[in-house]
Amino acid sequence: MGMVRLLASAFLALSVAACGGGVARASAEEPYVGQPGKDVIWVPTPPSLVEKMLDMAGVTAQDYVMDLGSGDGRNIIAAAKRGARALGVEYDPTLVQLSRRRAASEGVGERARFVEGDMFQADISQATVLALFLLPDNLLQLRPKFEQLRPGTRIVTNGYEIAGWEPKEVGVAPGDCVPWCTAYLYVVPPTEANRN
Ligand SMILES: C[S@@+](CC[C@H](N)C(=O)[O-])C[C@H]1O[C@@H](n2cnc3c(N)ncnc32)[C@H](O)[C@@H]1O
Repeated sequence: MGMVRLLASAFLALSVAACGGGVARASAEEPYVGQPGKDVIWVPTPPSLVEKMLDMAGVTAQDYVMDLGSGDGRNIIAAAKRGARALGVEYDPTLVQLSRRRAASEGVGERARFVEGDMFQADISQATVLALFLLPDNLLQLRPKFEQLRPGTRIVTNGYEIAGWEPKEVGVAPGDCVPWCTAYLYVVPPTEANRN
C-alpha cells in the first residue's frame, strides 16, 4: 500500500473511531464521516480547531478567507462570523447547498459564499487566508498555486503539513478535542512565482 493510500486509510479510521464507530448516514440532509469526495473524503474539522486555525491565521474583517474542499462550510461560516469575506469551493453539490443553508441560518449568508467546483481549478489569487483540511498529496499538488499567492498570505492546515515548507507555528486545539486537533500555519514567502 502506498504512503498516500495508507494516510487516507488512517484518516478515515481515526475519524470514524472518534465519531463512535460505524460509517452511517445520520440523515439524507447531513453528510457522514467518511463520505466519499472527489479527491478526499469528508471529515469535519472539530469546532475548537476551526477557531484555533482562524486565531493562528489572525483572521479579521479585512481578510478574504478561502477553503478548498469546504465540506459543510464550517471554516467559511466561522471566518464570516469574524467579519471576513469568505468563499468555500466544494465539489459535492449537496454539501454546497447545505453550506449555503447553514450560512443563511447563522446570519452570514452575505459574507460566506460557496461555489461548486474543483479545488485544483479554483482561482485562489485574491485570498489572504486559506483554511484547509486536505491530504498531504492534495496539498503537494496545490503547492505550485500556493507559491503564486501574494507574499504574506497565510495558509493554515488541519492535520497535515505542506511538504517542503516550514510551518511558522504549530497549534493544538484546547479542551477535549479528538481527533484532528493539530494545525499548521504557513506564511507565503516571496517566491519566483509571486515576485511581480
Ligand atoms: C476532509 S473534508 C474537509 C471539510 C472542511 N474543509 C472542514 O475542514 O471541515 C474534504 C472536503 O473536500 C471535498 N473535496 C474532495 N475533492 C475535492 C475537489 N477536487 N474539489 C473540491 N472539493 C473536494 C470533499 O467533498 C470534502 O467535503
